[in-house]
Amino acid sequence: MEQTLSIIKPDAVKKNVIGKIVDRFESNGLKIVAMKRIRLSRCDAKDFYAVHKERPFYDELVDFMVSGPVVVMVLEGLNAVAKNRELMGSTNPKEAAAGTIRADFAESIDANAVHGSDSLENAKREIAFFFATREIC
Ligand code: CMP
Repeated sequence: MEQTLSIIKPDAVKKNVIGKIVDRFESNGLKIVAMKRIRLSRCDAKDFYAVHKERPFYDELVDFMVSGPVVVMVLEGLNAVAKNRELMGSTNPKEAAAGTIRADFAESIDANAVHGSDSLENAKREIAFFFATREIC
């Protein structure tokens, strides 16, 4: 059993497809064990994506993540980190396999509908960034 962090990004929240995305997780064996809709502060977005701060897309990424509400979730299940990444598809929706969340709901590499932790170690850090232990059950 693993836990991983998922974010439904501002583009997908704006499109009103939260339920459709959540259904992809639940229909594929992942359980939502924590969930909230929030508006990230610029400071939160910068901290969360600090690992990318030297990349040329960092400022645009931060601008995008504060442009509207997001939904943050903890997903739990067997191999949850890899399973979530498989369901999301490639970072660039143009390269995402048919039937994945990004292929079906994302427009561009910036507005790519969802974020998912890329390793168990990062999942632990990202979950702790958004949720207190008592909020996960
Ligand atoms: P995410 O999984 O949230 O992690 C970092 C985000 O940066 C990524 O999804 C993309 O939305 C965004 N991004 C923008 N340009 C790039 C790029 N060239 N390579 C990787 N990620 C990018």
